[in-house]
Amino acid sequence: MSSLFPTYAKFPIEIVEGKGAMVKDANGKTYLDFTSGIAVCNLGHCHERVLDSVQKQLSKIWHTSNLFESNIQEQVATKLTADSERVVFFCNSGAEANEAALKLAKKHTGRDEIITFQQSFHGRTIATMTATGQGKIHDGFGALLPGFTYLPYNDLDALKNTISTKTAAVMLEVIQGEGGVLPATPEFLVGASELCQKYGALLIIDEVQTGMGRTGKRFAFEHAGIEPDIFTLAKGLGNGLPVGAMVGASKLAETFGPGVHGSTFGGNKIAMAAADVVIDIIFDEAFLADVTEKGVFFQQLLAEKLDAHVIGIRGNGLMIGIELETEAGSAVKVLQEQGLLTLTAGLNVLRILPPLTVTKEELLHAANLIESVLIKQEVGMK
Ligand SMILES: Cc1ncc(COP(=O)(O)O)c(C=O)c1O
Repeated sequence: MSSLFPTYAKFPIEIVEGKGAMVKDANGKTYLDFTSGIAVCNLGHCHERVLDSVQKQLSKIWHTSNLFESNIQEQVATKLTADSERVVFFCNSGAEANEAALKLAKKHTGRDEIITFQQSFHGRTIATMTATGQGKIHDGFGALLPGFTYLPYNDLDALKNTISTKTAAVMLEVIQGEGGVLPATPEFLVGASELCQKYGALLIIDEVQTGMGRTGKRFAFEHAGIEPDIFTLAKGLGNGLPVGAMVGASKLAETFGPGVHGSTFGGNKIAMAAADVVIDIIFDEAFLADVTEKGVFFQQLLAEKLDAHVIGIRGNGLMIGIELETEAGSAVKVLQEQGLLTLTAGLNVLRILPPLTVTKEELLHAANLIESVLIKQEVGMK
């Protein structure tokens, strides 16, 4: 019997090595990893420059606590906020970044009401679980935090009818990842931003899955040309080293004064050594343009092969969902057997999150495998 809480339905595969988009399991079988550790290893596994930066830091000092100055934290925060009036709070995960965002919004506005959206996912702490608009995540946990309302996603009228001067924040994902790779419309994002300004509510964008180049921009909200008051990052920020960040407008800085919020490990030097290089690589215009180009290439390829057979293909950049006629779990399993790792999102969506460094040959190979499993073997089809 396992000594672990059975919180995860695990695949019977242990991945023991990885390089770029390829991983190897304990039996020596190789796979193309189109999960990237759930949008974490955006630069692929064991990226040389990240490895070098982390190794150098490991040989100097690992941790000093947040009671001492940290030049590397300042450096990473400066890179994250380049060309904007923003400040950063470092933590260790997406849930913690969202938790910080919710606390900041409540304290700054002095208001209690938070609006989030159906099918959203924001984390597993009590506050972020409450923010998550999915009954299955709430089930069995008794009373949740008060003050949360869940509206239909992309429904600007519903938001207009609900937001008020009591609203502390509206929190949303630009593409709902766990909920089914569901993109927000640009009108919805712009409308939500305008409504927040009108009512003095803060707009919190959860970029935990969509951020760090995943959609071909540094942050997915940049596609809509909006300026959230707060956005949150984790997953891809450390390329596998645990790190999260809550990035807020400078006007919010004083609300989080000394002793108001904190985290022992937040901004840990090893995690910062990784994030420092990850940002340098991903925030390069040519790198982001390459992600966009490969995203278009892959989506077109999938559309040519699958359009007549699947319910829909959607996403942006290298965050792609293929909606199938039946549950997507069987397709994930058969693809694994054939050497391609993918994910589900919601029940029927096959979610594909290749490393952003993936090659076109690898994308082509994956598209052929997906076509073979879905169309020729009719997995996921009625
Ligand atoms: C959009 C979004 N927000 C928050 C989280 C929670 O992040 P973590 O698991 O690092 O706490 C996730 C994780 O999947 C996510 O996709």
